[in-house]
Amino acid sequence: MSSDVKQMRKAHRVLTTMSFSPVALERGYANRTLRVDLSTRTLEWREVSEEMKRLWVGGKGFDLWLMFQEISENTVWDSPENPICLSSGPLGGTTSFPGSGKTLVTALSPLTGSVMDSNVGGYFGPFMKFAGMDAITVVGKAEEQVVLIIDAVAGTITIETAPEESVDSHLVCEELTEMYADDELDRRNIAVVAAGRGADHTRMGILNFSFYDWRRQVARLKQSGRGGIGTVFRDKNLKALVVKNRGITPAWRIAESKVAHLTRPSKIHTQCLSETEEIKDIAARYDYDPEYVIEMLEDVQERYRHISKTAIDIVSEMTGTPKSWLYHIATFYKSFSLDPKGETIIQVCMGTACHVKGAARILDSFERVLGVKAGQTTGDGRFSLEAVACLGACSLAPVVKLGEEVHGHVKAQDVEKIIASAPEAQRGGATHA
Ligand code: FES
Repeated sequence: MSSDVKQMRKAHRVLTTMSFSPVALERGYANRTLRVDLSTRTLEWREVSEEMKRLWVGGKGFDLWLMFQEISENTVWDSPENPICLSSGPLGGTTSFPGSGKTLVTALSPLTGSVMDSNVGGYFGPFMKFAGMDAITVVGKAEEQVVLIIDAVAGTITIETAPEESVDSHLVCEELTEMYADDELDRRNIAVVAAGRGADHTRMGILNFSFYDWRRQVARLKQSGRGGIGTVFRDKNLKALVVKNRGITPAWRIAESKVAHLTRPSKIHTQCLSETEEIKDIAARYDYDPEYVIEMLEDVQERYRHISKTAIDIVSEMTGTPKSWLYHIATFYKSFSLDPKGETIIQVCMGTACHVKGAARILDSFERVLGVKAGQTTGDGRFSLEAVACLGACSLAPVVKLGEEVHGHVKAQDVEKIIASAPEAQRGGATHA
């Protein structure tokens, strides 16, 4: 631990602590939720009823149930009882679906005054679940800036002051990840939620969910919290929420796959001999470690613009990973493709901001000019057209991304010009049908 971080930790004062043991999940449920009241500094367990499970519906029903236990018709966004509810659905607690680790967050919004829900990636939801709780409800307001630490390794939940940590989310996430990790592997089992300065000064604060990117060796953020949920978080004087998961790796595993037969490519793509050597080199780069098959497939996708049958066979053979797992991964994540993608990928944003600014017309126009539908690749292999959710540049809506180039305020009549700006093909990536 760096000395700065050591100093920061020393400055913490524990206000409340509770011991707990993680529980085994039953059909994806821990069957209890954690309620935290920052005003009274109390921590307590609440039972999950069968009715809550019936209401689960994508996680939202679960959160709403928790929320309606707390609010009344007089509750407004900055009332102490306005809860922030964070839940993870049953899938977040199973290893059957790679990447299903979403977190649902709800609170009464400072922007709309109504219940706002949001869902976000990262590992907070599943870590919370593996730590032994289906959801967390945070109510009340702390008197001073605090962090809530759920440490499933030590078996403690604490509310602590955190006077020295940064306010900016990316920094506080880095600091807390560093602070609670005993080693490099441990960093991957820590997820932090924080809201930064924007949330202090506006009603539009977003909530940032961090996870440790081991390749870049830094905590990275996923953002959620439409409607100013980050502002509610900061209004509670909550600097961050940390979950340290038990030593379960975040690399999702599929023990068996009942859907593998549904995920075959429409056409079998194979690769030539020199390329198979290259794919073997990719697997060697990761020491043939099955833990890193997602990274191997990422490298294959980047190099060949698709995951061929040959690549699946080689990665499977060299890492001992069942092919069904690899097909499952290659078909679950949008960034993978079993069919070759075009040299240039055109992404047309269909997110809310772009939608209201006429994204549908832009997409129509691309489809007409390229002669393909969204999700398809042009016959000459030059372009793949994709309709995607928010590209993170909403102020430029409607937004189109061509390769790495972002085009904002796009009009239907700009489409041909944008396509013409595509770089010439730079690399091969031969594929043999
Ligand atoms: S909605 Fe299109 S960039 Fe955000």
